[in-house]
Amino acid sequence: MKIVVIGGTGLIGSNLVNRLRQDGHEVVAASPNTGVDTITQEGLAEALAGAEVVVDVANSPSFEDRAVLEFFETSSRHLLAAEADAGVKHHVALSVVGSDRLPHSGYLRAKMAQEDLIRASGIPYTILRSTQFFEFIDSIIKRSTDGETVRLSPALMQPVASDDTAAALADLAIAPPVTGIVEIAGPERFPLDQLARRYLAANGDNRPVIADVHARYFGVELNDESLTPADNPWLGSIHFQDWLSQAAAPR
Ligand SMILES: NC(=O)c1ccc[n+]([C@@H]2O[C@H](COP(=O)([O-])OP(=O)(O)OC[C@H]3O[C@@H](n4cnc5c(N)ncnc54)[C@H](OP(=O)(O)O)[C@@H]3O)[C@@H](O)[C@H]2O)c1
Repeated sequence: MKIVVIGGTGLIGSNLVNRLRQDGHEVVAASPNTGVDTITQEGLAEALAGAEVVVDVANSPSFEDRAVLEFFETSSRHLLAAEADAGVKHHVALSVVGSDRLPHSGYLRAKMAQEDLIRASGIPYTILRSTQFFEFIDSIIKRSTDGETVRLSPALMQPVASDDTAAALADLAIAPPVTGIVEIAGPERFPLDQLARRYLAANGDNRPVIADVHARYFGVELNDESLTPADNPWLGSIHFQDWLSQAAAPR
C-alpha cells in the first residue's frame, strides 16, 4: 500500500516512516526538505499520485497565533484538495488532546481549524489526538522561564513518548478509517511543575520550579481537565522515568 507521510522528516514523521517501511509499505516522506510543500503546493500532486493513505504530521514553523492558524488552514486546504483529486481513501491527522477545550490558545485554535477542515472534506478520516510528547517538555520549560526562574502550573498532564504516538499512528494508518477521534496519552499523570522538576533534575539542572496556578501555558491558564484525555484513551507503554533514563533523552 502506498502511504504518504506529510511532515515525514519531523520527530513523529521520521519515526512513522521507518515503522511503515519496516512493515513493507511503499512510503513517501513528504516535506519541504524532500521537495513537497503543502503551502506552495510544490511536488504535492506528484507525491500523492497512487496513494491510498495520507498521514499529516506536519507542524508550523512558527507558533505565533496568526502564523500558526494560517499554516494549518492553508496546508490542510491544499492537502485535502490534492487528496480528493488523487482519490486518496483515508486521511489520518495528528492533533492535540484538549484542542476543543482551550480556544484561547492560538496553537490549539489552529489545530481545531485543521480538524474542522478534515471533517468537512468528505474524505474518510481518522484524527489521533495525542497528549504532549515527553520530548516537548524541554520547550514547555523554555517558554515558562524568566531569567533563572521556571514558573509552571501544577495542573495535571498525561504526557506520552513520541515513540508511542508514532506506533499508534502506524496502526491507524493501515486500519479502516474511524471517521472520528481517537485519543492517546502516556501511562501516568503528573502535575506539570513536578514533571519539569524531574526533567531538569535528570539533566543536572537545579533551577527551581515554582508552582503557580495562574502561570500560563502557551497563553492559557490550565486546570486538571485542560490537557488530560477523556475516559479510556489508548495508553502508551513507555514510562516517563524509563524515558528519562534512556540515552535518547536530551542531556
Ligand atoms: N509536540 C507535542 O507534544 C505534540 C502533541 C500532540 C500533537 N502534536 C502534533 O504533532 C505534529 C508533528 O509534530 P512534530 O513535533 O513531529 O513536528 P516537527 O518535528 O517540528 O516536524 C515538522 C514537520 O513538518 C514539516 N513541514 C513544515 N512545513 C511544511 C510544509 N509547508 N509542507 C510540508 N511539510 C512541512 C517539516 O518538514 P521539514 O523538515 O522539511 O522542514 C517536518 O517534517 C504536529 O501537527 C503537532 O501539532 C504535537
